[in-house]
Amino acid sequence: MIKTALVTGANKGIGLETARQLGSAGWKVVLGSRSTERGEAAVAELTGQGLDVELLQLDMTNPHSIAQAAATIQSRYADLTLLINNAGMPGAFSSSFSTTREEDLRQAFEVNFFGTFRLNQLLLPLIKQNEGSIINVSTDMASLQFMQHTEYPLNCFDYNASKTASNAMTTAMAIELRDTSAQVFAVTPGFTKTDLNHNAEGGKSKEAGAAIIVGYATDGKRHNGEFLDVNGIYAW
Ligand SMILES: NC(=O)c1ccc[n+]([C@@H]2O[C@H](COP(=O)([O-])OP(=O)(O)OC[C@H]3O[C@@H](n4cnc5c(N)ncnc54)[C@H](OP(=O)(O)O)[C@@H]3O)[C@@H](O)[C@H]2O)c1
Repeated sequence: MIKTALVTGANKGIGLETARQLGSAGWKVVLGSRSTERGEAAVAELTGQGLDVELLQLDMTNPHSIAQAAATIQSRYADLTLLINNAGMPGAFSSSFSTTREEDLRQAFEVNFFGTFRLNQLLLPLIKQNEGSIINVSTDMASLQFMQHTEYPLNCFDYNASKTASNAMTTAMAIELRDTSAQVFAVTPGFTKTDLNHNAEGGKSKEAGAAIIVGYATDGKRHNGEFLDVNGIYAW
């Protein structure tokens, strides 16, 4: 049976690679992109490789776009069993608490937290009914443990705090799904070379980053309420 997944922010980076890997594994992939043009280019690339991929316009800062996308999922892709909340942005990637600007903090929260919150609230009933999975893509830097103990913290308060809030959302959702066959969990791909960090040297490839997300999405195990990195359970 064909399984259907929605990957948000999938026109490039880890999201595009996640879509490619799911498609290669036989999934139908609904490719979320805020830009129709960039989304169409990504869909053309993946369908050109023989994959079953369709475009869904989805701007995580626009409640109307999110509501429309959720309605399209409910009507056209009612068999959805996997939602990967990958769309994300770095804010200004501020370098300290004191230099963080409120507008950058709000921008990071708008995409990484509020947009994801809205989409999750709209699609949770369907995922629950289909006994599916939601993955909120997180980051090592969302981990309060990691930030407290790492020797060289990237103190990007705008980005980090928005992702820590998203981790709290994962926990809140997982509590609701405890006694169901559906699940929600967070995965950090770890430092990956993408546009988000200006393709910084030292990061893993997009393929490797996406493989971590796809691995947990398709391993058939129950991960409800977990925060996972490449090695397994990661500290909140
Ligand atoms: N790269 C890393 O080291 C790293 C590490 C840990 C976690 N992550 C997480 O991995 C995810 C993917 O990031 P990436 O590294 O692949 O970055 P990326 O290459 O910059 O891709 C980000 C994606 O999110 C989309 N996006 C941004 N704002 C959006 C909005 N308002 N509505 C819809 N889509 C939006 C982008 O679309 P546009 O092309 O239209 O901007 C793009 O498709 C993010 O959640 C990020 O926090 C990344």
